[in-house]
Formats: sequence, structure tokens, C-alpha cells
Amino acid sequence: MSTLAKRLTVLIVGAGGREHALAAGIADSPSCARLIVAPGNAGTPGERWPIAVTEVAAVRARCRAEGVDLVVIGPEAALAAGLTDALLADGVAVFGPTAQLARLETSKSHARAVAAELGIPGPRWASFTPAQAGPAREWLMAHAGPVVVKQSGLAGGKGVVLPDGQAAALSAVTDALAVGEVVLEERLTGPECSLIAVCDGRTSVSLPIAADHKRLGEGDSGPNTGGMGAYAPVDLIAELGLQPADLHAQFIEPVVTHLAHSGRGYVGALYAGLILTPEGPRLLEFNCRLGDPEAQVLLPLLDADLLTLLHSCAVGRLNPASVRFRPGYACGVVLAAPGYPTAGHPGLRLALPDPLPTATLIRHSGTECIDGEIVGLGGRMLTCVGLGSTLAAARAAAYEAVDRCAPPAAEVRRDIGWRAAARAVRSYAAAGVDIAEGDRAVSLIAEHLAQRSGTGVLRGIGAFGGAVDVAFLQRFDHPVLVASTDGVGSKVELAAAAGRLDGIGADLVHHCVNDVLAQGARPLFFLDYLAADRIVADQVAAVVAGIAVACAAVGCALIGGETAEMPGVYAPGRLDVAGTIVGVVERSALLPRADIAAGDVLLGLAANGAHTNGYTYLRRLFDWLPLTAAPPPLDGPLIDALLLPHRCYLPVLEPALQTGCVKALVHVTGGGLPGNLPRVLPPGLGARVDLGSWPLPPLFTLVHEVTALDPVELHRTLNMGIGMVAIVGPDDLPAVTAAIDEPSYLIGEVTAGAGVVLA
Ligand code: GLY
Repeated sequence: MSTLAKRLTVLIVGAGGREHALAAGIADSPSCARLIVAPGNAGTPGERWPIAVTEVAAVRARCRAEGVDLVVIGPEAALAAGLTDALLADGVAVFGPTAQLARLETSKSHARAVAAELGIPGPRWASFTPAQAGPAREWLMAHAGPVVVKQSGLAGGKGVVLPDGQAAALSAVTDALAVGEVVLEERLTGPECSLIAVCDGRTSVSLPIAADHKRLGEGDSGPNTGGMGAYAPVDLIAELGLQPADLHAQFIEPVVTHLAHSGRGYVGALYAGLILTPEGPRLLEFNCRLGDPEAQVLLPLLDADLLTLLHSCAVGRLNPASVRFRPGYACGVVLAAPGYPTAGHPGLRLALPDPLPTATLIRHSGTECIDGEIVGLGGRMLTCVGLGSTLAAARAAAYEAVDRCAPPAAEVRRDIGWRAAARAVRSYAAAGVDIAEGDRAVSLIAEHLAQRSGTGVLRGIGAFGGAVDVAFLQRFDHPVLVASTDGVGSKVELAAAAGRLDGIGADLVHHCVNDVLAQGARPLFFLDYLAADRIVADQVAAVVAGIAVACAAVGCALIGGETAEMPGVYAPGRLDVAGTIVGVVERSALLPRADIAAGDVLLGLAANGAHTNGYTYLRRLFDWLPLTAAPPPLDGPLIDALLLPHRCYLPVLEPALQTGCVKALVHVTGGGLPGNLPRVLPPGLGARVDLGSWPLPPLFTLVHEVTALDPVELHRTLNMGIGMVAIVGPDDLPAVTAAIDEPSYLIGEVTAGAGVVLA
């Protein structure tokens, strides 16, 4: 759009965020010689005239005195007061309709009558004067569904009631009739949007479609306000198969054409509030101005000179082809005073970021500069606007500005645009959950489990819960169930990164079997849990197959499990596994026994490697070493040593338990020997562990060589080669050792006095 032949003196009437947005756009125009805002606010550029928007005579006199060329009227109150008419009489160009045409906003019954005459789709409606209370009640009684009760005249945004039920509706009608004419409407449901056009009396062009958030509370709850935030454009329009041009043709053009024959026609902004019902878009209301906060998000999207555009409307020469908009989105978040919209306490000091975060704008509403500080006057104070190539980016920018300037007490909605975000998720897969891949995982698991369900399993994988027939427990004198839940820690991440998840199932099952074994119990059944940011069926199948094989090897039934896909909870590429085991033990064989005494010996059994503990440390320790490296004394790649599965001690210890001489078993997990020995020792007893009394496996020799941890911390972090300890009386040592079909190590003894000493 070309610039104007003459540079203009421009007055903007109003004091809100909309007027700040208008002033900011006009101030940028090379055609603006002088900019005045009446009364303006602490943020508006240009001069300020301290004149209220309804002081028609004062505005008119000053415009005449100071040679104002163009007046842009923001609020409806100035239109209703006849400001346009007065200025037109003086030959001033005005962007804003006459009071007569502004009746589209100032009289809701008039607007409905015009819309009905023009065939513009809307709800069923009727209007009633205060003398028609009886017919109004009859209309209500005859109307089956929910209604909207509107004061026909201007009510400062407080004239619309959505009553719950007929009694509330009757009372709302009585209240509204006490004020003046009322309009009763069928209540429509659907998302709402704002279609705003600029008009020159005959021609009009719509801005991108915007959506505002009128309610105070998040999730569109609580009382109505002037608007707590807005965004544009609204992608939902296209998703519903609607075209902005069609909406313009349906809701704006008929009105502009109809009014073209009345004097200068409709000049200014015409705002159609629409509701997108399942039956199609319907008119909720007309406003005769730009919306607030819609203007704050729409005007930054304009890719044309704002002053030239508004002037062309005011003088009847709008060229729609010259009105272009930038691609991208704008999102505006309103900061209102505490207590808004009811009380709206004034006096809140506002510290604005300087410079502003990138891609943000701040528009002032009720602010003043007092003693060099910006102070909120009680209502809406600021709109933080973010711009971006996506709505998400625009929103993020807006909230960055909000976070930099919102006082804690301010009323701020954190959810602006939430419905658009919700609609952007077109499928569960788009939310990051791939049901098809989940189903593939389940079928792969089913294949692996087909032959491995275990004896006594009545309901297994796929049922709502596992069911196991435990009639055999009748053979026990006094069965005790022992249960444990555990995971494999960050070893799983190492395994996933190496693409070697097949050993993780054994890690998990063996860890859990050892935990119940430490209480003398044999495993009965097992349930697993695998969670990931994204389900990869082959990964799940690898883990679950490992679990199934490990369970089967120890006669433990795998009766159920859960696979959870949780993008956003787990970081990309991360997964975790856990399992729950239930075992059984004869009560008389429950470990640890109470007769542990000083002098009992600690008989250590070798670990395979680090088992499932200390991996967060090990990963840091070897951070710079490629996992394929084979540093001496390892005889193969480091990753092989790190991924050796957790040992299962059940087969090797079963004969030892049958001797009846084992007083306790200590599964050396997180906390190592110093952390786990005390778990079985009676109060007042401790242990001495003789370091060097067992051979260090190569991995731990390497660790020992490079670690900076002191011995106590090292043995607390890693098992250091001992994965299970049996506590036995010294006299029983030969019998127990003989029952263990592998080397075992006398690694220390139980001592008087609490604590574990590494000697
Ligand atoms: N944002 C709604 C309005 O300006 O009326």
C-alpha cells in the first residue's frame, strides 16, 4: 500500500491496549506527521490529550483548533456518544461509524433485526421492552433449551448472562428488564472466533480471524472479562473446511452493502463475533470497533501501512488488494490488576523488561506513569504479545514477556490458545503415542510368551490382571508370601544405546529373584513394567523375551505386565523397566534368622559384574572411553563387561539353603556391602569385611585402577565382585561351602558393635 500524498495529524481516541496497538502502528507510518492519543496510557506513543472518550465537544474543539486530519476511534462508547458525527460535521476524516450505524453494537435487538433481515445465520431470538415482562417469560417457558439473556444496550461487557436452568433465566430476565430492553437467545455451543473487517462505506476487507479468551479463569472458566488473551490466525477455520473469504461474504459483506445506502455507509471496523456450531457458523454479535485484545494480535500481522489503510477507509478509498498480512502467528496474554474484573485494585507497579525479549511486544491498557514508574490503574494493564512462525512459538514468546513483567499478584491466564493446541493433536500418534507400534509390541510379546506362561497360571498377559492357582501352597505348613519390586537402574540406558536390550530381562528377573531369595523364598510369579518416551516394538519384545526366558528358567510364572508410552515424561530415546516378583517361603525358613551372632562368617559369592547397580557412576567413570574399547585387564570390549547380566543365585544357593545352616542372605545391590550387610544384622551387631579376600573380576580391577573414590565410597557404589553373601555359623561353614557348587569366599565376619568396617 502506497504512502499518502500529505503527512497527517492523527488523533486516536481511547486508552486501552487496542489504542496502543493502533498508535504503535500509526507511529511507524512515514505518513504520520503528528500523533495524538486521547486520553492514551503510559505506553502510547505520541502526545496525549487528557480528554475522556465521551467528551465529544472537547475532542471536537481541540481537533478543530489543532487541525487534526484523521481521527481513529477505538471504543464503542465514543461512537455511541456521537463523536464520529460531530467530527464529520467539521470535515475531519474519521475511522469509525456514526452513532446511528454503531447501533449494530449499541442495540443488540437492532443488530439481531438487521441480521435477520439480511439472512445472516444466528440463534433463535426475541427482544422485549421493560413493558413486555409477561411475553418475555412466556418466550422463556416455551423455549426448551439453555438461553442467553442480553441487555440490548451497552453494558460494558457485563450485559450478557448465561443462566443455568429456567429459574435462573427468569431471574436474569427480571434483572435485565429493570435496566432496559432485553434480547433472549437460544444458547449455541461451539468454539468462538472474531471476524473483524475494516470498511470504507462500500468496500470491506477482513483481517485474519482471531480468537479471544473472555473468561477470567483458565480453561475458560469464571466470570466474563473484557478479554484475557487472544491469538490469530485461527487454524480451526480451515480444519472445519471454512474459508475466511466465505465467512466475510456471509457475515460482513451483506451488512456493509446494506448500509452503503445510508449516508457515507459503514466506515470503520466491523466485528462479527461468531460461534462455530455443528450446523455451521452463526452470528453471536456485531461490534463496531476492533476487538481488544484482538487488535493487539492482529495489527502486528498487517503487512501494510496502517495509517494509509485506516485513512483509505475514512475517505472511502479502500483497496482490498493492497491489504496483505504476514505469515505466522501472534498470541497476546493480558495482565490484569488483582481482583479484576470485579474490584480491580489499582496501584500495582509494573517493571517492564528492557530490552523486550525477541519477537515480543507489550501493549499498555490501564497504566499511568506516576513518579517515573508505570502503575496499573485497576483493570486490564498490559497485553504481552508474542510473534512466531507457529502458534506455539508465538505463545512461548508471549509468556516469556509475561514471566519477565507480571507481578505475582496480577491476574494472568497461562492457557491462552489452549484449544488450538488441543486441536493440533489430530491423533494419539500425534501426541507421541503410537498405538500401532504398541499393538505390534504386544503381538511380538505374545509370540515370545506362547510357550512360557508357567504352571498354575489361570490368567496371564493380556488379561486385566494375572491369576495364579496356588492350591499347592496347602502342602506348606505355614506359607509366607514375599514380594519385591525393583528395576535395573541406568544400565537400561546403556543397553538401549548399545542396541543390546536382550540381556535386560535377565537383569531384572534375577535382581528380583535374588531379593526374595534373600528372605529364603522361591519365586512364584512375576509382572513387568516397561516405560519409554516412544514404544519401539522390537525393543519391547527383546526385553520381555528376556524376562520370559529368565522367569521360565527359575520356574517363575510371568503373569502380566504393562508397557507405557510416555513422551514428555521420559526424554527422547529413554526407557525404564521394572518388575514385581512374589515368592513363597515356609515360615520357619524365613530369612534372616534371629540367631545371627558375632563370630558368624560372611561367605561371599562372586558377582558377574556390576549387576544392576552403580551404572550412573560407571557411565561417568568411562565417559571418554569408547564402549568398544578393551582396556586391560578386560579381555573384551568394555560394553560386554558392563552388560553382563545380573547373576541369579537361586540355583547355586538352593542346596545350601536345604542344609538349614544359612542364617541370612545378603543381596549386594545399591549401597554395596556396607549398605546391605546391616539390613540383615540384628541391632548391636556389625561386620568386618576383609578387602582383598576375594579375587577382583577384571572390570573391578580396572575400576580400582582409575577411580578417585575412597574404598568405602567405592564399595558403597559397586558390589566390587561379591553379589551375594551367606551368613553362617563358623561350625556350619564346611557343610554350606560343600553345598555351593562353585568357589565361595570367606570375606569377613559378624562383629559385636554396629557398623561395617572394611579392613
Ligand atoms: N475481545 C472482545 C471484544 O473486544 O469485544
